[in-house]
Amino acid sequence: MQQIIFHRSLSHDLAAAISECRHDRIFILADEKTARHCMPQIEQFDCLNGAETIVIGQGEENKSIATLTEIWQHLSRNGATRHSLLINLGGGMVTDIGGFAAATFKRGIDFINIPTTLLAMVDAAVGGKTGINLNGLKNEVGAFSDARFVIIDTTFLKTLDNENLKSGYAEMLKHGLIGRMEQWVELINYDLARPDLVMLQQMVSESLEVKRSIVAEDPHEHGIRKALNLGHTVGHAFESFAMTTGRPILHGYAVAYGLICELYLSAIKAGFPTDILRQTVSFIRENYGQMPITCNDYPALVSLMRHDKKNTTGTINFTLLADIGDIRIDQTASEEEIREALDFYSEG
Ligand code: GLY
Repeated sequence: MQQIIFHRSLSHDLAAAISECRHDRIFILADEKTARHCMPQIEQFDCLNGAETIVIGQGEENKSIATLTEIWQHLSRNGATRHSLLINLGGGMVTDIGGFAAATFKRGIDFINIPTTLLAMVDAAVGGKTGINLNGLKNEVGAFSDARFVIIDTTFLKTLDNENLKSGYAEMLKHGLIGRMEQWVELINYDLARPDLVMLQQMVSESLEVKRSIVAEDPHEHGIRKALNLGHTVGHAFESFAMTTGRPILHGYAVAYGLICELYLSAIKAGFPTDILRQTVSFIRENYGQMPITCNDYPALVSLMRHDKKNTTGTINFTLLADIGDIRIDQTASEEEIREALDFYSEG
């Protein structure tokens, strides 16, 4: 199981983490954006003396087999051995592909994640899921492989734009809903338009604890880890649908819209309290606006839900809630109920 470090001094914590990993050579993976904005914060560290940098293209379209090959080749041509160390510096795209490159290069080398976006800090960089996209399908090929260390430094968030901050925050909202009432109250009262980063650091730590404890119980998603899919069955359908219309939306926005629909399903099928539904929905609408859909889009959205890889028996699999923290995995809903949830979403 990976160790999560909340940094006090990034150089000190990184040096300590490196000293506990195999590291005859150190490679740092960044994308074009993090190479420009985040690398300057770490490249002068003594512990990274002589480290080799690998820079890849940014964006989800580069989470591909071609980029993965580039990383393998760079490692191979520059003398990486099975005792070398890869440090992934970036958002979820970098930690996903870098983790997979490390998991597979010479059958597995150690890696450390330094997530630089909120989404990566609270979700992607933690929990051992690594992978790439293939044939237009997200995370079609991958492996469970834990980073030896994940170092969380929320000062990287100072340069993150508000849309990407909100995108990560949607996963925190999800953690609050599957976590504890006090956490949810704190989350829906937070001012996302004027984020207080000191307060956010504490909230990130609480959020990570929800994910960490669930993953510790079920690392390979045979059972309770499916709780982390709350909002994602409908959310992934919104995300893919938005892509096909040429107006892509950020992952966390799709999850926020998915939460509206899946909390509605939770209310009608599992008795989720309607006042908590109402308050969560108004927080989401206020901060995330709406991706407009009409009932003509429902067949495409339902079909995308049917093709989700979380399904096993031809039905659409949902994680629902009977209350905050009262999780019901492996739930299904009829097409009529899903349409009703989409009506609830679009009615505003
Ligand atoms: N992103 C959900 C999980 O790690 O299981």
